[in-house]
Amino acid sequence: MSGWNPSLYLKYAGPRLRPAIDLIERIGAAFGAAPAPGAIFDLGCGTGNTTRLLAERWPAADLVGVDGSADMLARARESDIGARWMKAELADWAPPTPPDLLYSNAALHWLDGHEVLFPHLMGCLSEGGVLAVQMPRNHAEPSHTLMADAARAGPWWQRLKRVRGLPPVAPPETYYDILAPVARRLEIWESVYLHVLEGDDPVVEWTRATGFRPLLEALDGAERDGLLEDYRARIAKAYPKRADGKTLFPFRRLFIVAVR
Ligand SMILES: C[S@@+](CC[C@H](N)C(=O)[O-])C[C@H]1O[C@@H](n2cnc3c(N)ncnc32)[C@H](O)[C@@H]1O
Repeated sequence: MSGWNPSLYLKYAGPRLRPAIDLIERIGAAFGAAPAPGAIFDLGCGTGNTTRLLAERWPAADLVGVDGSADMLARARESDIGARWMKAELADWAPPTPPDLLYSNAALHWLDGHEVLFPHLMGCLSEGGVLAVQMPRNHAEPSHTLMADAARAGPWWQRLKRVRGLPPVAPPETYYDILAPVARRLEIWESVYLHVLEGDDPVVEWTRATGFRPLLEALDGAERDGLLEDYRARIAKAYPKRADGKTLFPFRRLFIVAVR
């Protein structure tokens, strides 16, 4: 879990949090007339930005942020968020007692085996509890396909070809098939956000904090610089600056709200 850079990740904290907020909005509807969640885990809480949103929405809840990165958790611990923090690998994780809400924004796509992981998480919930997940699904767009193109385009390919990049998130129908047998109610939807970004090379700045990270981390020195420059040039063509100097970055995301 090394390599997460809290400052770089937080550079676009505003647009990255939009889907986190939209997901929380739908959770209220999933609970319906049921009491507010008493115990909440924020899975892959990172620096705690999403945990803060959960604390603001349900101030009386017992809130725990879980993450595998010591650096991200260190930043979360510096905050004044009323939560406990737990370092754990999510692939092996289970809560000590059944919570009412398992929330995860932009984290579970880093894990494999969703056909096992998602039913496992549903089974961890209290009766009537909610699993709420948002995952990026932009792998077919230039921001992500150009990573692979740049990786193959230079001598660095020899060192990159065995690197495990970010696995693509499956289509919504796959998650329906995984979760329908274990969910009393299930809502799945996608949104494409049109992020309006400022500054130079904002799409590269965005992806090098997340999906491009494993490739960059596998290289050093001139090869690392070469890969970054190759990707930067491709991205500049795919996402040109608009007349007002801003860059538009359409980004597809998958949302799941499942009630046990
Ligand atoms: C893109 S950040 C999202 C952080 C936060 N949820 C947010 O929306 O701001 C993804 C987080 O998931 C964590 N993560 C990814 N894979 C993980 C794993 N297998 N076990 C534990 N944490 C993991 C990373 O350490 C990182 O902090």
